[in-house]
Amino acid sequence: MIKKGIILAGGTGSRMSPLTKSVNKQLLPLYDKPLIFYPLSVLMLAGIRNILIIVNKGQLAQFKKILPEKNNLGIKIQYKEQLKPNGLPEAFIIGEKFIDKDNVALILGDNFFYGQSLTKTLKKSVSIKNGAKVFLHPVKNPNLYGVASINKKNKVIKIVEKPKKEFSNLAVTGLYFFDNKVVKFSKTLKPSKRKELEIVDLLNKYKRAKKLKAEFIGRGGTWLDTGNIKDYYDASNYISVIENRQGLKIACIEEIAFKNKWINNNNIKEAIKFYGNCEYSSYLKKLV
Ligand code: TTP
Repeated sequence: MIKKGIILAGGTGSRMSPLTKSVNKQLLPLYDKPLIFYPLSVLMLAGIRNILIIVNKGQLAQFKKILPEKNNLGIKIQYKEQLKPNGLPEAFIIGEKFIDKDNVALILGDNFFYGQSLTKTLKKSVSIKNGAKVFLHPVKNPNLYGVASINKKNKVIKIVEKPKKEFSNLAVTGLYFFDNKVVKFSKTLKPSKRKELEIVDLLNKYKRAKKLKAEFIGRGGTWLDTGNIKDYYDASNYISVIENRQGLKIACIEEIAFKNKWINNNNIKEAIKFYGNCEYSSYLKKLV
């Protein structure tokens, strides 16, 4: 059972400049809450309570203001800094001590997942004992993403970063589950032409060992990338439409902790005090 998760919340956010010049992308609002609440909620829905958040050097204080290590969520949050965006697999080198002898999940700080039976799929995925698992989802423009093709047993047979020639419409999303070998594998990676350690190179190591499996969010599920301005506002609107129609919040982290029985009424009351008089607090009030 995977009990540890890493949120990679650094990056330059260059495509979102000037918004990201002084504020980290993951702290910008996605509709009514900071972007980082969404990937955090995914880990929490998977039952993961031991979480490492990797942030850019110099930005720790900003993150701790909204997600303190001593929190009202019944989870353990630790932080580490990344000196510069050297690529996604660096998470496992920075997180070596945190991972220790365990298996680990990784989610990118700017990825949004939502949909029917997502929790069930996540719970299934944390049970991997060896190998790695990627979440795939169809996209219209696969040339912009890491793309994978699979065989009948859902094993990944080919995986390419931003393919020039289309061979599959299944994009590799920003949610991954790894066995403990991930630390060793990451350390053997060499920087690519863009001077980053590449997640595709890491996944290819698992693929070559026939240990890379695919999981699906499913057609009724949504995966949105919030890396550029248009996608970002589309995601924000999507959340607004769903929340205002249903009166239920997406990625209310206290609600998830409460439903998981990790926290009680008092913790919710503390959270209300912490957030102050706002719509998010009004929603929390309805939980207790
Ligand atoms: P990217 O979207 O590849 O990069 P970015 O967020 O810096 O944005 P841009 O391309 O516009 O410059 O990163 C995906 C996610 O991973 C994002 O949440 C930031 C995070 N990240 C890190 O924390 N460290 C890294 O070294 C890299 C490459 C990304």
